Amino acid sequence: MDHGSVQDYYGKTLQGSDDLQTDACCTVGEMPARVKAILSNIHDEVLARYYGCGLIAPEGLKGARVLDLGCGAGRDVYALAQLVGPEGEVVGVDMTEEQLEVARRRQDWHAEKFGYPNTRFLHGYLEKLDELDLEPGSFDVIVSNCVINLCMDKRAALAGARRLLKPGGEMHFSDVYADRRMSEELLKDPVLWGECLSGALYWGDFLALCRDVGFDDPRALEGRPLAVSNPKLEEKLGEARFASVTMRLFAAEGLEPGAESYGQTASYYGGLDGAEEALRLDDSTLFPVDVPIAISGNTAAILAQSRFAPNFEITPPLPHRGAFPEAPAYQPFGAPGEGAAAGSCCAPAEAPAAAASSCCGPAAEPAKGGCC
Ligand SMILES: C[S@@+](CC[C@H](N)C(=O)[O-])C[C@H]1O[C@@H](n2cnc3c(N)ncnc32)[C@H](O)[C@@H]1O
Repeated sequence: MDHGSVQDYYGKTLQGSDDLQTDACCTVGEMPARVKAILSNIHDEVLARYYGCGLIAPEGLKGARVLDLGCGAGRDVYALAQLVGPEGEVVGVDMTEEQLEVARRRQDWHAEKFGYPNTRFLHGYLEKLDELDLEPGSFDVIVSNCVINLCMDKRAALAGARRLLKPGGEMHFSDVYADRRMSEELLKDPVLWGECLSGALYWGDFLALCRDVGFDDPRALEGRPLAVSNPKLEEKLGEARFASVTMRLFAAEGLEPGAESYGQTASYYGGLDGAEEALRLDDSTLFPVDVPIAISGNTAAILAQSRFAPNFEITPPLPHRGAFPEAPAYQPFGAPGEGAAAGSCCAPAEAPAAAASSCCGPAAEPAKGGCC
């Protein structure tokens, strides 16, 4: 596979979301009211060329500098531009001119609608972010929606993103993952790659890669199994299963290889835009306002270095008291032996409640809500 075939797919083959052959590059499920409201301010032409697979709406973005990797026609850029407000900035990067052309054509329209100009679009490759005029360590948040799977060199893309984040910054992104490594034959199929399937990383390889490039404690926020819904493509893919997962990767220092207990708690004061009643850090860690929650040393370090720090009271560490009782590891494809839908915390709304909750074992610590 090469950049040219992906550019052709997104620049020429696809003219809008209706041209997609599978459900991989689309977002299903109920949208929070906050997201619905901001999407209603986005131009129809931009919305029509949306190919994302997850919901990108990080909390507490007011005044932030945000970078969107593989921004396409700019839907998420224009949504985030409203969340960061006039003091913030959102920069979109993409390699496909036709996509960027739509995004740029509507820049003035959005600036007028919002009442301020705060977006920028750059042509570039995610594998070569250092070639763009972007200062290392200058972004609070980096987002991406269904793009890393399309990259030829995923390590270079993630390492480049890590370099561009401020200390404590967050890479918050949705992407497609597979429950196994793909065969050479599937990797060469331009439609399967273009539809965000055969370029998907095997989940285990993805987690290892995160740690290799300095995202030492990757956290899954939510996910859903993907239905390919195309008999011809399903036949080619055989037994392989896919899931879309939204991740939080923090550029935090001093993290340990595992969760350790130092008897700490964190209380969320509230006050973050998008987390009015509670902040969900990951699929098994929920901080309701004013409730002290037991946390591991790594969670304490992540919160203390992140943009969330002013909104938390974190108790100081006590002498080490062994491993932190963690919730079961996130399973995007279900626990071994289960069907995909049964294992997803965030199965589509129509999934029966019992099936949707099956990934959530007994809560390992008080008030760790998980998705259940
Ligand atoms: C599935 S679309 C998603 C676009 C956008 N994030 C959205 O949600 O509508 C993938 C986008 O990533 C871009 N892309 C893929 N690989 C890239 C790379 N290596 N460097 C820069 N852009 C890339 C494509 O041009 C395309 O616009």
